[in-house]
Amino acid sequence: VPKPIPGEGEVLLKVAVSALNRADLLQRQGQYHPPPGASSILGLEASGYVSELGPGCQGHWKIGDPAMALLPGGGQAQYVTVPEELLMSIPEGLTLHQAAAIPEVWLTSFQLLHLLGNVQAGETVLIHAGASAVGTAAIQLTRMAGAIPLVTAGSQNKLQMAEKLGAAAGFNYKEQDFCEATLKFTKGAGVNLILDCIGGSYWEKNVNCLALDGRWILYGLLGGEDVSGPLFSKLFYKRGSLITSRLRNRDKKYKQMLVKAFTEQILPHFSKEGPQRLLPVLDRVYPMAEIQAAHEYMQANRNVGKIVLELPQ
Ligand SMILES: NC(=O)c1ccc[n+]([C@@H]2O[C@H](COP(=O)([O-])OP(=O)(O)OC[C@H]3O[C@@H](n4cnc5c(N)ncnc54)[C@H](OP(=O)(O)O)[C@@H]3O)[C@@H](O)[C@H]2O)c1
Repeated sequence: VPKPIPGEGEVLLKVAVSALNRADLLQRQGQYHPPPGASSILGLEASGYVSELGPGCQGHWKIGDPAMALLPGGGQAQYVTVPEELLMSIPEGLTLHQAAAIPEVWLTSFQLLHLLGNVQAGETVLIHAGASAVGTAAIQLTRMAGAIPLVTAGSQNKLQMAEKLGAAAGFNYKEQDFCEATLKFTKGAGVNLILDCIGGSYWEKNVNCLALDGRWILYGLLGGEDVSGPLFSKLFYKRGSLITSRLRNRDKKYKQMLVKAFTEQILPHFSKEGPQRLLPVLDRVYPMAEIQAAHEYMQANRNVGKIVLELPQ
């Protein structure tokens, strides 16, 4: 394809590293169309170097600056154009590989916990798929907020990783009832917040372990989309809130606000020494030429944290 040309207020990023997301798997299968105006090339995030400035850029960036970006698509290519406000500086001490693992899942977790979930210190947060890329970020941000992360995952190895990152307890959903375990942990009170990328198969357990006035945030449907049963009465009885979220199709203004808040409040913590230091969790690095193997690895639920992709230079 032709090299993209940066438009008004955009910069051209020469991509060094991108990362894989579940959305890429769905898009490949024809089940997830990019939002209007977005590139049809896969890739929701990238790190690399500023290579050109479009007209009207405000001078935040200069050619050669290392940067990382949240994208609606197009990141798995040698070049991608980005509105200058959606580029972020790479925190000191992080590699381009680590940086490429940040934008999509850390911005998502930050948004779910703070902007939508209004997480408070001392609250309990149940994070499903605790060793997923989003999960590994959400555990650390929950701890940073002074709240208590509980997780579910499908293997002992994944639960151990989640606990290493700060989970107070983890439940193997294949071997035990996470609802019962969560209620036991919270002495019957239930959890204040649920970050749920599973949906259908978990709905009843979720609502049963939600605390009074709890918030349940649905941001994925890995466990299906159908609900059969008294969801409304159970939610109503708890005065619960069910909130849904999709980041990719948010408008530019919202993403700008999110990137700014994240840059100010969270990014410095990737460089600060100490027990609260944030860590992008990388599972495997694939060269782009092995993209098929990368998709298969994610599809098989084998990754703990992110799968990153190296672009040919
Ligand atoms: N709405 C948004 O804005 C937004 C943004 C980013 C991501 N997402 C969504 O968030 C989800 C997680 O993304 P990610 O990149 O963190 O994924 P990921 O790293 O690939 O991890 C997903 C994990 O979910 C677990 N899982 C898969 N199917 C399951 C099922 N049916 N029941 C229970 N657990 C299941 C598997 O772990 P186990 O071995 O533990 O089962 C799998 O490894 C995806 O659905 C993605 O599309 C949404």
